[in-house]
Amino acid sequence: MKQIIPGIIIVIFVVILSTCKHEPTQIPLGNNPIDTNIIVTYDSVCFNTQILPLITSSCAQAGCHDPIKHEEDLILNSYSGIMKLGTDKLLIAVKLSSGKKMMPPLPQPRLDSTSINLIQRWINEGSKNRICIPSVCDTVNVKYATHIAPVLNTYCKGCHNAGNKGGNVNLDNYTDAKNNTIFGKVLCSVTATSGCALMPKGGPALSSCNIRKLQLWAAANCP
Ligand code: HEC
Repeated sequence: MKQIIPGIIIVIFVVILSTCKHEPTQIPLGNNPIDTNIIVTYDSVCFNTQILPLITSSCAQAGCHDPIKHEEDLILNSYSGIMKLGTDKLLIAVKLSSGKKMMPPLPQPRLDSTSINLIQRWINEGSKNRICIPSVCDTVNVKYATHIAPVLNTYCKGCHNAGNKGGNVNLDNYTDAKNNTIFGKVLCSVTATSGCALMPKGGPALSSCNIRKLQLWAAANCP
């Protein structure tokens, strides 16, 4: 009996454990073991940072669906303005490649497929007025112009430019930044690993968010 009871308890325990449902854990993009303080959940489309700037710049330009001209009685610079048009009509208009209903009209360029897919995704997700706070660490789709150049220009360029190449490193343009990043010099310096001197020289170190951007950019082959 003394041996059977613990045995039964173990069996029950194993049964309970095995019936536990394991939901797939959602790993937020931009989250990583080093930067545990950064949790960026861009699992849904953000209206204010992703959709509104796109539609405003393509549709609410002066003379179109802006507050002054409000062509077709539409002002497409706000959530309510876009919802007044309706997402179905919006999607049809941006997908069309000819005809009167095609938007934006010629000679404006068509939205690219990435933008159209984003609008489609936003609609599929219920076309919500989802507000994302821009101050969160943006490590989605890290690109030189949008993510990397601002960091290098702010923190490094003063000592690493064509006229002033500290350590013979130039970081004031894409090609040089890419070469130095690829060769690991930049990553090594901003994290002060493998014997590299910590950069920016004289400190303070870059934020974990900015370091993460550099790491992701290098990992993606410096787009
Ligand atoms: C205040 C000036 C200054 C700033 C700001 C600065 N650096 Fe430097 N950096 C230097 C100098 C000077 C050297 C040459 C080595 C030395 O003196 O430590 C250097 C060297 C380097 C090297 C070469 C290291 C090696 O081992 O070859 C890299 C890479 C580098 N910096 C990257 C950066 C990055 C990235 C930033 C911005 C995050 C930055 N630096 C900001 C002055 C600076």
